[in-house]
Amino acid sequence: MLLSFLREKLRLTGTKYGCGGGGCGACTVMVSRYQPATKTIIHYAVNACLLPICQLHGAAVTTVEGIGSTKTRIHPVQERIAKAHGSQCGFCTPGMVMSMYALLRNKPQPSMDDITQALAGNLCRCTGYRPIVDGCRTFCQANCCQTNGGGDCCLDEKPQLFNKDEFLPLDPTQELIFPPELILMAESSNLKTLTFYGERTSWVSPTSLDELVQLKSSNPKAPLVMGNTNVGPDIKFKGVLHPLIISPTRVVELFDVTHTAQGVWVGAGCNLSEVQSLLEKLAPQFPKEKTELFRALIRQLRNLGSQQIRNVASLGGNIMSAYPNSDLNPVLAAGNCKVSVVSNGRREVHLNQDFFVSFGKTVLKPEEIIVSVFIPFTREGEFVGALRQAPRKEAAFATVTTGMRVFFSERSRVVQEVSIYYGGMGPTTVSAAKTCAAIVSKPWDDETLSRAYDVLLDELDLPPSAPGGKVEFRRSLTLSLLFKFNLEVLQKLREMNVIKDELPERIRPLPRDIQLSLQEFQHVSKDQSAHDPVGRPIMHRSAISQATGEAVYCDDIPKTDGELFMTVVTSARAHAKITLDVSEALRLPGVVDVITAKDIPGKNVRTEFGYDEELLAESQVESVSCVGQMICAVVADTRVHAKRGAAAVKISYEDLPDPVFTAEDAIEKSSFFEPRRVIWRGNVTEAFKTVDQLHEGEIRLAGQEHFYMETQSMLVIPVGEETEFKVYASSQWPTLTQEAIAETLNIPSNRVTCHVKRIGGGFGGKVTKTPLLASVTAVAAQKTSRPVRFVLERGDDMLITGARHPVLGRYKVGFMKDGRIVAADIQYYSNAGHTIDESLMIVEKILLHMDNAYNIPNLHGRGAACRTNLPSNTSFRGFGVPQGIMIMENMINDVAVLLGRPADEIREINMYKGPSVTHYKMEFSPENMLRCWNECKVKSDFSNRRKAVDQFNQQNRWKKRGMAILPIKYGIAFAEGQFNQGGALVHIYKDGSVLVTHGGTEMGQGIHTKIQQVASRELHIPTSKIYISETSTNTVPNTCPTAASFGTDANGMAVKNACMTLYQRLEPIRQKDPKGSWESWIDAAYFEKISLSATGYHGGPDLYMDWDKMEGQPYAYFTYGTCCCEVELDCLTGDYRTVRTDLMVDIGRSVNPSVDIGQIEGAFMQGLGLYTLEELKFSPFGLLYTRGPSQYKIPAVCDTPLRFNVYLLPDSDNPHAIYSSKGIGEPIVFLGSSVFFAIKDAVAAARSDSGLVGPFSLDSPATPERACLACSSPFTKKIPVSKPGSFKPWALNI
Ligand SMILES: Cc1cc2nc3c(=O)[nH]c(=O)nc-3n(C[C@H](O)[C@H](O)[C@H](O)COP(=O)(O)OP(=O)(O)OC[C@H]3O[C@@H](n4cnc5c(N)ncnc54)[C@H](O)[C@@H]3O)c2cc1C
Ligand code: FES
Ligand code: FES
Repeated sequence: MLLSFLREKLRLTGTKYGCGGGGCGACTVMVSRYQPATKTIIHYAVNACLLPICQLHGAAVTTVEGIGSTKTRIHPVQERIAKAHGSQCGFCTPGMVMSMYALLRNKPQPSMDDITQALAGNLCRCTGYRPIVDGCRTFCQANCCQTNGGGDCCLDEKPQLFNKDEFLPLDPTQELIFPPELILMAESSNLKTLTFYGERTSWVSPTSLDELVQLKSSNPKAPLVMGNTNVGPDIKFKGVLHPLIISPTRVVELFDVTHTAQGVWVGAGCNLSEVQSLLEKLAPQFPKEKTELFRALIRQLRNLGSQQIRNVASLGGNIMSAYPNSDLNPVLAAGNCKVSVVSNGRREVHLNQDFFVSFGKTVLKPEEIIVSVFIPFTREGEFVGALRQAPRKEAAFATVTTGMRVFFSERSRVVQEVSIYYGGMGPTTVSAAKTCAAIVSKPWDDETLSRAYDVLLDELDLPPSAPGGKVEFRRSLTLSLLFKFNLEVLQKLREMNVIKDELPERIRPLPRDIQLSLQEFQHVSKDQSAHDPVGRPIMHRSAISQATGEAVYCDDIPKTDGELFMTVVTSARAHAKITLDVSEALRLPGVVDVITAKDIPGKNVRTEFGYDEELLAESQVESVSCVGQMICAVVADTRVHAKRGAAAVKISYEDLPDPVFTAEDAIEKSSFFEPRRVIWRGNVTEAFKTVDQLHEGEIRLAGQEHFYMETQSMLVIPVGEETEFKVYASSQWPTLTQEAIAETLNIPSNRVTCHVKRIGGGFGGKVTKTPLLASVTAVAAQKTSRPVRFVLERGDDMLITGARHPVLGRYKVGFMKDGRIVAADIQYYSNAGHTIDESLMIVEKILLHMDNAYNIPNLHGRGAACRTNLPSNTSFRGFGVPQGIMIMENMINDVAVLLGRPADEIREINMYKGPSVTHYKMEFSPENMLRCWNECKVKSDFSNRRKAVDQFNQQNRWKKRGMAILPIKYGIAFAEGQFNQGGALVHIYKDGSVLVTHGGTEMGQGIHTKIQQVASRELHIPTSKIYISETSTNTVPNTCPTAASFGTDANGMAVKNACMTLYQRLEPIRQKDPKGSWESWIDAAYFEKISLSATGYHGGPDLYMDWDKMEGQPYAYFTYGTCCCEVELDCLTGDYRTVRTDLMVDIGRSVNPSVDIGQIEGAFMQGLGLYTLEELKFSPFGLLYTRGPSQYKIPAVCDTPLRFNVYLLPDSDNPHAIYSSKGIGEPIVFLGSSVFFAIKDAVAAARSDSGLVGPFSLDSPATPERACLACSSPFTKKIPVSKPGSFKPWALNI
């Protein structure tokens, strides 16, 4: 593939690997081709991970390195994304840059819609997209709100996060030219068959249709590779081997477009973007009634995959892939399309119910080739609908997708023809023929339709354990999509004056225009020196290098001599004894060794909280305890050979009984990691007797995959003497990585140095898991005496490294009629997986935050970490708090519903007020919490918008709006006091340049940028003189994990301490020469033998929690915030859009508002993903199904709130942290739940239209599936619910 060629052969490492399957956009590059027929050059963005290098003959490839560099000149796209603060960890940035660059090459002044379309397939886990969009927006002609008239922006007077006036202009004449030799090559008519030979596969590219036919006839099993978006993933993820691949991209007949009086023949080789532009060009040229099908296809194409996929995926390929949820096939079939097929002769075949046979199979013979596809015009009175519902609005395969066509007898409502096809309802595209039979010849009215729904329900049945799950939802979607089509048809019949009926509501698409948002922060005081960067919105210090692709991540480190690559072999069973046979793997070419537990010289077992965790499962002795547990590792000369070696390892399993998967299983079998924790204040039992009303409820919160864009990566190099090892790792905790390796190899820690330059996103997932993986890598390096690199593929990373803990919460609450909550008893069951990891501390943090913002006098919490046979879950931004608080807030929502009062009122009534004490007896002032709440209400115009929402809901039956406002009180720092230490080492070199090292790792959160600001203030020098190269255990020892939102608090203080020491040492020099420069002072200091190097240390607060006494001071202080969200929900599909978000956050005096706002927005979006989108699905046998971005959906640009306002609370001081700032990395994740509660609010409005009132259950995430089913529409009510226990569900509800 192009990606490995770029990265490994050309050493162009700016293009990143994020998933390998076309789902993340990190590998985006631009391909340009010359088209001799039109003498034009076309440019398009592609995913390099799916692009076969042989396919590129005659094409020019532009990578991020090609468009700009810090060594020459950076490109405006790179500059604007960086300076608009659109790059945090930076791992997604080159991909973003290239998607935008390709767009600008085609359209230098794009619209906002063009931009969001171009970025739809690029995932970013850090930023929340708003700053990326704002940076890109500056290329639009109108890139501000212009509400001040005269082209002025309303934001102009407020402090801005970036100054767009300083941006380089975009000058298209300065772009790279297309290589002239490629034009000459393309124009030469002397085309020759090309053949490339690989290790196991040959590639042939014929030049004519005849040759193609001959090749295919003699090799019917060889695939025709066009876009490779189906064949490629099959090779990569399913291990399919094709000895011969045929590439027909140079066969011109496959790209012909022919117009006829009946419609248009489109070459099957045309890619989907070309098909879309063709149809968009044709549609306005004909009367509307003729282009119904064209327009339906355009709608579907806009939402199919991503731009990068559509730019290569071919029309013929989509048809022939016969995917169950192809978006095109149902529309093509319903629209009476046909294909022209060639083999030994030509024939035309209709795309109808006989065409799609089963999964991936059509009626065509293996040797047949689709040359073109006929898309007919529609007739007057003929309407075509194309509707889809997907887990995410864009860049996601549909859950159910449909094409529907109806043709009416002349100027009547009697149906003459009808055709309905669905995707997502069987192994391939299926026809609803019986339903059509029930409609045809009947009038299109309620009676006919209502009969049709019944027939459809019967016709498209799904067994309760159908693959893909979501059975009730999928079945209800078939009905509600037909209903939506009905509404469209009625509207059109009325426009044609065929009917005069009063129409039911017209359902418009959800709003989608991302508007300019506000980011409000305070200017630094007028007295602050202009040279002092603290408090200013300084760009992330590596943003430009990240945008140019020069920033070096672990896997970008050049290969060292003799380096080996490692892959691990994991258990396929959840609970079994194993026997291992590695002999075949060892015989394979390139395989150097297989590492098993026996090879570990030191400890294979690490003990935490009294529980053992093995690095590698011990063959024959021990059992495996989850699918994905590491058993052995294969080291080979290349990645490919290591992977083949791993596939050849044979493991025999002897299943052990009774695996435990769910919290309920664990409760039943009492499978817990001890101790279980309890905390209470007051006496809930007594208080329950005194209250007006009691209520019990339950909510289940799913886990969450970290989905850091850079997968776990490490490189271990044996130095060659005295058992010394150099380790480069993408680790949030270099010290633990060092210690774990030393323990595993049975050497002292002083022989291991761990270096972390930057991490492509961590979010807690690289705290404890990386050291385990690095330890196995170190064993391989030690055993082979060669450097070993281990970079997890996305699927393995998701399988092995665990996620956020799913939590089951059960509550009982007692409250008064006036809204006061008097007592609450809450039980938390977190699903820890098979090892304890940090699960106990997470349970503790859940219990400590259970009160959130509320002063409930009688509060009782019980928390247990369930021991299950699933991969071991670990820390994740928020460390249990986002799950724990949800349960309290859900309980409050129930109370509000029971009392018939708005939830915000009940929240306000119960909030802490005045000097307060938590349930663990920590004193605090909630003043700023209440300020955030009140100011958020004002800024969001809460009460007026609430009324508008209620009015909207009265006027709409099938769309509802919902609103929610929620507070957070989040404790900062580690309750385990020893983890709050910070360390620093600052060197001043003789030229005056300063090198700072500290204990924190840079993972996008901007810690190095803030630290640079701290050093700049303390040394009184510009940030340009200060450099931070890396975090390493040989410069700052015994560091704490960079976590708990405490990195800058601890290390910033340590750096301050070191810099103050140095500055004081220079005092005599300064006094001698007050007018001297920094450089002259340093020079003088050297000659006066003053040490120019200092360590800094910060012990951090002595925090503690005494669980026996149930009291403590576990936090240094609280960060507060309030978030108000409004959503619009399509009740028929469960699809929603966040219309507006207002976030008011108290972070004291921000050291860097752009970095902090970036953390706020990014955390909010991660929370939005957690509570509304992201679902980890496990098979009934404990296998994680969702192992890549195709199955697991994190928020994309389409999920950004349309207005996303962030305000930093003014005039807030915090004596407990550096320069009065506050930690902000984690707290806002929880506020993503305001989207969940806004959805719940909208669902409640829908339910009340169905006559349902009172609390109802909605588990998190509130996916379209859950939201739609909870709306309880007439369609969902029709679906029979299978009795739990009567079938084996496709996926577990963990
Ligand atoms: C990340 C991702 C997201 C996607 N999202 C969607 C989506 O939302 N909706 C959707 O509908 N699809 C989606 N797809 C699927 C994509 O549209 C199809 O994979 C694509 O259209 C197949 O075309 P291709 O040219 O890449 O096929 P290839 O992989 O090149 O070939 C696929 C198969 O088609 C055969 N074939 C190709 N052309 C011909 C021909 N002319 N005659 C006979 N046989 C032929 C080949 O032999 C091969 O077996 C997605 C794919 C990816 C990777
Ligand atoms: S790595 Fe290519 S799309 Fe993810
Ligand atoms: S900045 Fe986008 S993934 Fe980190």
